[in-house]
Amino acid sequence: MAGSMEKRASWSGKWAFILAAAASAVGLGNMWRFPYLAAKYGGGTFLITYLVLVFTFGVSLLLLETALGRKTGQSAIGAFSSFGKKYTFIGVLASAVPFIITPYYCIIGGWVTKYAASYLGVGADALADGGGFFTSFITSNVESYVWMLVFMILVFVVVGLGVKGGIEKANLFMMPALIIMAIAIAIYTLTMPGAVDGALYYLTPDFSKFSPELVISALGQMFYSLSLAMGIMITYGSYMRKQDSLTSSVVRIGGFDLGVSFLAGLMIVPAAFVAMGSGDAVASAAGPSLMFITLPGVFADMQGMAAVIGFVFFLLVLFAALTSAISLTETLVSIVQDGVKCSRGKALGIIIAFVVIAGSIINAGYNGLAFIEPLGEGSSMLDFADFISNSVLMPIVALLTCIFVGWIIKPKAIIDEVRISAPFKAAGAWTIMIKYIAPILVIIILVAYVAAQFGFFSM
Ligand code: PHE
Repeated sequence: MAGSMEKRASWSGKWAFILAAAASAVGLGNMWRFPYLAAKYGGGTFLITYLVLVFTFGVSLLLLETALGRKTGQSAIGAFSSFGKKYTFIGVLASAVPFIITPYYCIIGGWVTKYAASYLGVGADALADGGGFFTSFITSNVESYVWMLVFMILVFVVVGLGVKGGIEKANLFMMPALIIMAIAIAIYTLTMPGAVDGALYYLTPDFSKFSPELVISALGQMFYSLSLAMGIMITYGSYMRKQDSLTSSVVRIGGFDLGVSFLAGLMIVPAAFVAMGSGDAVASAAGPSLMFITLPGVFADMQGMAAVIGFVFFLLVLFAALTSAISLTETLVSIVQDGVKCSRGKALGIIIAFVVIAGSIINAGYNGLAFIEPLGEGSSMLDFADFISNSVLMPIVALLTCIFVGWIIKPKAIIDEVRISAPFKAAGAWTIMIKYIAPILVIIILVAYVAAQFGFFSM
């Protein structure tokens, strides 16, 4: 019983698990990073590469993590240490990732909340001033904190209501709503003059853009997007019942996440293409500027529909961000609950204090503490947290996890767990993936990311 004082949480069924894992996966990564990467790496070329990676490498790792969680019935630290004290450190490293990501994810969630609210309030034109609105907001000493807290409170309330009473219900409402809004916006943007050229740019493969850099970027994106290598899927697997099939679940999760990324691209790339005139221009508007500066400019041109489209767009991004932040926070709660052996309520209290304090400190990196530039000129503490978690810790955790399962406890331990609930025909291929292919790919990502950060080449 994981030593906790109350019964461990559990899903009400297989679909609740699939929806929760998909809700964790679908997040800011799908909404702002995927479309930009697709624009940068030759549209269809990137889409095809990504699709192949998700259904080979991605689902293999999803299966590994969920099966490990279900087998041990514990969150990351307990899951690894149940095979021997000396493996505890892998769980500790995996658990460190959500501790680093959650605070800054909530800051960006706060930006999204602010934007959704602003479309209702000040209207579309005020947000489309070429970046002034965005900069003055994130550098403000009060407002940026207020919106971060608003976002955090939404997350804490849902997690506070529990796995079945809060998380499942929130997902059941937000995920379908998100899909419907995304489809509606994609249809609307595709009717804009010139948008079809943008859609063609997004869909047509330009094979001259295929490169090692593309594959590395696609791999990194996939890790982040599927919420891998940070203990989330271990925790979620631990809430699963033995009779539910793991193999079909992970394929659905991968497919769902991919589908939403694809839709996000269809919604964003043609719109940005119309505004900027070429695919290369879209590719250059990476990260926050695409979502918080370029798109508001596009929306403002929609005349009568501007405020409506802007609001619906940021509301759907807000739902995506909320469900991911909920999964991060739930993972933190379960780590503390299993680690300190306290009640869920007490664990949540500890996590709330941590997330609010750490979030405030990182947010100060844009205003009060802006002089701290950990990665060189112009970088923020948020960039630093993002770099350490995504580019350094996640590949290391993924590598250790693959070595742990492939070479220490042996793939059979996981294969047997998977076979409790369903046949596993691909067990042979999966074993080769976990023992050989995955570790090599992960080492390549790690080296490439760190090298890119320190300027050896650009990604
Ligand atoms: N997968 C989420 C996204 O694409 C991000 C995330 C990372 C969520 C880690 C939870 C944990 O935005």
